[in-house]
Amino acid sequence: MRLPVRAIIHLGVIYSVKAQSAVVSADPSASTDSSLQPSIPKITDPASLVNAFIGTTNGGHVFPGATLPHGMIKAGMDTDSPGNHAGYDGDPTFNVTGFSQLHDDGTGGAVPLSNFKLFPFLECSTFEKCPTTMANRKILRKVLSNGLPDDVASPGYFSTNLSNSIRVELTATRRTALHRYTFPAGTANPRLLVDITNDGQKSSTNPEMTLDPTTARVMGGASFAGSFGPGRYNAFTCVDFKAEGYTLGTPTEYGVWLSNFPVRGSTNLLQTYYGFVSEMGALITFNPAPGGKATSILARVGVSLISSAQACANAEEEIPTFDFDAVHASNRAAWNDVLGRVQVDARGVDKNTTELFYSSLYRSHISPADYTGENPKWNSTEPYFDSLYCNWDTYRTLYPLMSLHDPVTFSRIVRGMIDIQKHEGWLPECRGATVQHFIQGGTNGDPILGEFFVKFHQQAQALNVSPTDLYNALLADAELQSPNWNLQGRQANIWKQLGYIPQDMFDAGGANTKQVSRTLEHAFDDFAVSQVAKTLGNSADAAKYLGRAGNFFNVWNPNITVPGSPNIVGMMQPRFANGTFNFTDPRHCSIHDPAKATCFLNAANRDGFYEGSPITYSQYVPQDTAKLIELQGGVESFITRLNFIFDQGYFDSTDEPSQQIPFMYHYANRPGLSTQRSRQVIAQFFNTSRNGLPGNDDSGAMGSYVAWYLLGMYPLPATNQILLSSPYFPQISFFNPVLNTTTTIISKGFSGNPTNGTGGKVFVKSVTVDGKPWKSNCFLDWAVFISGSVVELTLTNDIGNTCGTGNAALPPSISTGGYN
Ligand SMILES: *[C@@H]1O[C@H](CO)[C@@H](O)[C@H](O)[C@H]1NC(C)=O
Ligand SMILES: *[C@@H]1O[C@H](CO)[C@@H](O)[C@H](O)[C@H]1NC(C)=O
Ligand SMILES: *[C@@H]1O[C@H](CO)[C@@H](O)[C@H](O)[C@H]1NC(C)=O
Ligand SMILES: *[C@@H]1O[C@H](CO)[C@@H](O)[C@H](O)[C@H]1NC(C)=O
Ligand SMILES: *[C@@H]1O[C@H](CO)[C@@H](O)[C@H](O)[C@H]1NC(C)=O
Ligand SMILES: *[C@@H]1O[C@H](CO)[C@@H](O)[C@H](O)[C@H]1NC(C)=O
Ligand SMILES: *[C@@H]1O[C@H](CO)[C@@H](O)[C@H](O)[C@H]1NC(C)=O
Ligand SMILES: *[C@@H]1O[C@H](CO)[C@@H](O)[C@H](O)[C@H]1NC(C)=O
Ligand SMILES: *[C@@H]1O[C@H](CO)[C@@H](O)[C@H](O)[C@H]1NC(C)=O
Ligand SMILES: *[C@@H]1O[C@H](CO)[C@@H](O)[C@H](O)[C@H]1NC(C)=O
Repeated sequence: MRLPVRAIIHLGVIYSVKAQSAVVSADPSASTDSSLQPSIPKITDPASLVNAFIGTTNGGHVFPGATLPHGMIKAGMDTDSPGNHAGYDGDPTFNVTGFSQLHDDGTGGAVPLSNFKLFPFLECSTFEKCPTTMANRKILRKVLSNGLPDDVASPGYFSTNLSNSIRVELTATRRTALHRYTFPAGTANPRLLVDITNDGQKSSTNPEMTLDPTTARVMGGASFAGSFGPGRYNAFTCVDFKAEGYTLGTPTEYGVWLSNFPVRGSTNLLQTYYGFVSEMGALITFNPAPGGKATSILARVGVSLISSAQACANAEEEIPTFDFDAVHASNRAAWNDVLGRVQVDARGVDKNTTELFYSSLYRSHISPADYTGENPKWNSTEPYFDSLYCNWDTYRTLYPLMSLHDPVTFSRIVRGMIDIQKHEGWLPECRGATVQHFIQGGTNGDPILGEFFVKFHQQAQALNVSPTDLYNALLADAELQSPNWNLQGRQANIWKQLGYIPQDMFDAGGANTKQVSRTLEHAFDDFAVSQVAKTLGNSADAAKYLGRAGNFFNVWNPNITVPGSPNIVGMMQPRFANGTFNFTDPRHCSIHDPAKATCFLNAANRDGFYEGSPITYSQYVPQDTAKLIELQGGVESFITRLNFIFDQGYFDSTDEPSQQIPFMYHYANRPGLSTQRSRQVIAQFFNTSRNGLPGNDDSGAMGSYVAWYLLGMYPLPATNQILLSSPYFPQISFFNPVLNTTTTIISKGFSGNPTNGTGGKVFVKSVTVDGKPWKSNCFLDWAVFISGSVVELTLTNDIGNTCGTGNAALPPSISTGGYN
């Protein structure tokens, strides 16, 4: 093995930012054959190219606040917007309700997290008259002359100016936030409120709090509702204060507040008539800076899901000296480390494209979040990652992107998932704040583990991933009937018996919905199991699960056509246990659905399909597209069908089952059409404005999707193949710290990107790897990335190019010989 295993493992288990930033010194351009690696200007501060506000309006629900890559703390502004799933809203007409410590990114469901808001008061006529409830204290931000709010965000940092001229700045370590409140000169009684109870859903029960009258330390916590599942979680905080430039001293006033009543001099709930109100926290008045100067007060906010004592310990360990600028600098260094492993040559490329790329890469590293040490459910030395919201969203593109440049984090997420399986019986599918959330379709931990193991099986032991435990976790999903497959696992018995999920049998373990989606997802899940079995040399299991990967065929009804489009023949359809199909209109849940159904998850939903129409789901067989082409009448009618999907608006840019469709022309030997469609999708739906996402970011699912497209590739999870198109940059490279290799893709004759995605000299005519002709214009093998090769693409403006000659030129499918 060639990798620097020990050093990497070491970095993997240490959480201090200092240790992480040490990786920065690994020079991405240092490895591989330098004679073949043309040097390009290195982007040393990719964080400066990140626009954190993309997707913060228009339902993107993007989190623009301060976090480390995959940090637990996501400190950000909360607003009273109805779309405040990540707290923030880029529309300045919404009021600020506080600055809280935990968020998710791009999720739907009920508003998650948003716990422990801090809020500054410039002036109250008296301590007792401070308007402490969320409804009464809320305040607008300043608005700039361009109509945007006076907010600034960059990786690891957020700031705003409130309309009363208080400036708020936020940064973070993994489990601790650091806030800086700067009150204008002359402020006589700077006050800060700590809100223990108001999470995003106002769901708290059993709050507790104490306030130290000497130090002003506030400790507290409560129980809160999960966002997308039936469970609850506890969260705790520990807040300490320090002045910048003077000694803060003891508070001049302090007390517990209940609703709009601050109780002066109280230090805990026993000293109040608690029970009348649902809003509660601490209010503290501090000494202002001497000489009437501007007052800057730092608030260090530790968070724990175990106890407030642990929240204090986390804070003391991670931010001992309240040095805002140092914490911010370390945080940014961690971002530059991970973002800088992907280098692009931005010369000749529109600035927005480079910004879109690094912003999308950035959003691929917000979730899942590293809650290691904060899992209250069991004690373990394994990592614990949360905000898996949901694996169904992220397995397609986010984890394969991580394979390229961040396999250490990937390995720790995998270890965390395996540990969850050991304790809960099944791999997590969807999860937030330690609470199991509703599954979306598959058991999509399977392709995530498969993606890791197929690509890093040689490094697995060194990365502390046990192949045996990994495989056993997959077998639990594949074989064991789950008592509640709304939350984890599958309807495994019927799956094994029939080879599909029937529409009329649901044995008490969950809701009778999504039968077709579940069938298609399980087929792909079992393909991932097969790939792992094969990698382990277990050929019997490999064959067994490869057979089950073909189960998509069991829900294929060859006789269905789209009303008005008789040439589109055959659809995935719900099927009863007795084998008869139950007709569902192919347009169901599309924009052309006469019934206007959405197929979103809700209690009443009995649709066979989840967040996609029969038309889009009928294309979802990534493991065997060749078979799909055969079922859909051959190459020409397959291309007709793909064109129909785009031209008639069936492609759904907001939902993951559509994500791969633009690239499917590759399998019809028409990669130019994939290149054009994928570029048109970017041009039409994704841009750098605040509304630049067509829907939820889905925990980075959309961010990673866009990053892949701009890199000119599309992944096939749990395989050794990556579909190839042309990058938006003349040169891109990936440094992989586990393999210690840099892979470079160069576009010879690059001449820019057509702004609307149409036409241009962007089609791949031929490919070489390390100077030798490559077998295909349509895909790369993982071996190219293991060895750190130089891939050279020759571009043409001829959209009619092909994958090359011979069968080896087409991307693999099970029915044409399978994957290697
Ligand atoms: C990584 O590769 C570079 C260049 O190939 C080499 O100089 C360096 O020693 C390697 N690092 C480790 C830790 O093996
Ligand atoms: C925000 O607060 C201001 C001042 O209290 C108020 O006029 C405005 O209506 C509020 N906006 C919203 C969206 O509630
Ligand atoms: C807020 O005001 C300060 C001081 O006037 C200024 O430096 C800063 O750029 C403003 N904007 C933000 C978002 O902090
Ligand atoms: C974990 O270990 C600590 C210390 O021994 C103990 O107090 C705690 O109850 C344990 N937690 C669980 C969930 O077992
Ligand atoms: C499709 O139609 C053919 C010809 O009418 C018939 O033989 C076949 O059973 C039908 N298949 C299904 C699944 O309805
Ligand atoms: C198959 O099952 C469905 C639903 O239970 C029923 O409506 C249908 O009549 C059955 N078909 C046959 C051929 O038994
Ligand atoms: C058959 O499909 C229709 C239309 O989607 C649905 O309303 C009905 O409930 C399904 N029948 C059964 C038995 O599930
Ligand atoms: C940016 O993307 C959004 C979301 O897809 C879209 O609504 C908007 O029209 C796009 N803006 C531009 C200028 O293309
Ligand atoms: C770049 O994006 C901004 C919005 O973020 C937009 O105003 C501008 O027109 C874009 N420029 C180009 C060349 O697309
Ligand atoms: C795309 O832009 C090119 C160049 O501006 C133009 O010729 C072409 O008509 C546009 N195509 C579409 C579909 O908008």
